[in-house]
Amino acid sequence: MGVESPYVFVSEQAPPHELLRWVREQIPSFYESDRLIDNCPNLVWSEQELKLVVPRNSVGPYVKVDFSSPQMNHRRRQGLGKKQLFAKALGLSAQPKTALDLTAGFATDAFTMLLYGLHVTALERHPIVYKLLEDGVRRAHLDLDIGLLIKNQLQIEQCEALEYLHKAEPLSYDLIFYDPMYPTKKKTALSKKNMQVLQAFIIPNETEEMEEVLNQALKMARQRVVVKRPPSAEPLLRKPSLSFPGKSVRYDIYLSGK
Ligand SMILES: C[S@@+](CC[C@H](N)C(=O)[O-])C[C@H]1O[C@@H](n2cnc3c(N)ncnc32)[C@H](O)[C@@H]1O
Repeated sequence: MGVESPYVFVSEQAPPHELLRWVREQIPSFYESDRLIDNCPNLVWSEQELKLVVPRNSVGPYVKVDFSSPQMNHRRRQGLGKKQLFAKALGLSAQPKTALDLTAGFATDAFTMLLYGLHVTALERHPIVYKLLEDGVRRAHLDLDIGLLIKNQLQIEQCEALEYLHKAEPLSYDLIFYDPMYPTKKKTALSKKNMQVLQAFIIPNETEEMEEVLNQALKMARQRVVVKRPPSAEPLLRKPSLSFPGKSVRYDIYLSGK
């Protein structure tokens, strides 16, 4: 997948050589600047971190992938109850060990899966989102609290989910997680800051594409495929084996062999 909209690459200090080369190769319509430009997404290198500023961003000055943010720390410290909706959806009592997250985004769900003890391979196809994720992982490796967890349990890859599924060995993951982008009618208070930013510049997935990905995922999971859906949306493909509805999301579970 390429980058369609014109992007600005802003560096307030000299960026790593490798990052600059990547920007020049990946973003054909890039414009380099030393300050933010209105009305287009700005990829910003400052304070040794990669950040994104999107136009008319009502959610704060910028976003970055931060596995040590106060929210993530809270999630890690409070411990994750097995009664939580996401835990039920993952089917932790069946002790899945490996997960493939087809749609990593900023990897909040992938990080939660790590906290539940899963080893996660997370795929992201959008080059900018992937680059932000890669930078978050790089910084996390240096963090004394979570460095080992991330190093030992999380692998990320920039690729298209369907291509990856076609090449992967069947049944090589206990669990496959799928959280595509849905069209949003309006911004709700429930969509989190990072999601609002993704919604601002990523094109939603087409139903046909989502069904094709799910169809392939169903052939590849040892135990289950978990699809994250808006609460009132129709299930993809067919009725799931189980469903866990919540206030802002619903998890549809397709058990393998059923
Ligand atoms: C709704 S967001 C995922 C949010 C993520 N669960 C999190 O916790 O941050 C969907 C992400 O998946 C990516 N994506 C959508 N379809 C994809 C596909 N077929 N292959 C790889 N990545 C995909 C999008 O670029 C976007 O970043």
